[in-house]
Amino acid sequence: MRIDIITVLPELLQSPFQHSIMKRAVDKGLLEVNCINLRDYADGPHQQVDDYQFGGGAGMVMMVEPIFACINHLKSQRTYDEVIYLTPDGPRYDQKTANFLSMQQNLILLCGHYKGVDERVREHLITREISIGDYVLSGGELAAAVLVDSIGRLLPGVLNDETSALFDSFQDNLLAPPVYTRPASFNGWEVPEILLSGHTAKIEDWRHEKALEKTQKRRPDLLDEN
Ligand code: ADE
Repeated sequence: MRIDIITVLPELLQSPFQHSIMKRAVDKGLLEVNCINLRDYADGPHQQVDDYQFGGGAGMVMMVEPIFACINHLKSQRTYDEVIYLTPDGPRYDQKTANFLSMQQNLILLCGHYKGVDERVREHLITREISIGDYVLSGGELAAAVLVDSIGRLLPGVLNDETSALFDSFQDNLLAPPVYTRPASFNGWEVPEILLSGHTAKIEDWRHEKALEKTQKRRPDLLDEN
């Protein structure tokens, strides 16, 4: 999968994909992340990408021309499945959307800044808008990194144990059950005996029960979606 990220701050996106699971995905050639500096598509000596908003009001707005030029240039090289704008007023991101996006080939992520982008970008160039939560970030870059990470780890061959993403929290609308490792006893704090029993079927039942219990307690709204 290829993900092209359009940003005014490409430096901010250098590190997130150079470690751990994302690095493995990139090294294995399963994921290609390409950061494009929007200023490279802006005219004039200052390579301006934002301007005052019509009608007055505080805050700058990202201009349509450089975004149009950038997206057009990318589209001349390949076909994109989605052109996604990261914005706090978009539909909220969830595991279902991550699963869907992980099945695509080519994505463009557009990171907003300031007051956001000229509405005509959203009307004519964007196919999907995403918010990663009900809070406002200073720009879309960290949100883009969240998307790439959550999508990248779902690509077949990225995780060591291919089935493990299936048991993540939110797959099946359940939070993940508790996990333990050695030592079995620490400080008088014991690992549940069932996990030491070697009884695979019973362990699975226990995990499902704990997952249900946790979901009921913390996120009952997820159970309504089943
Ligand atoms: N840009 C600023 N805040 C954001 C959010 N919550 N989600 C996605 N993009 C954003």
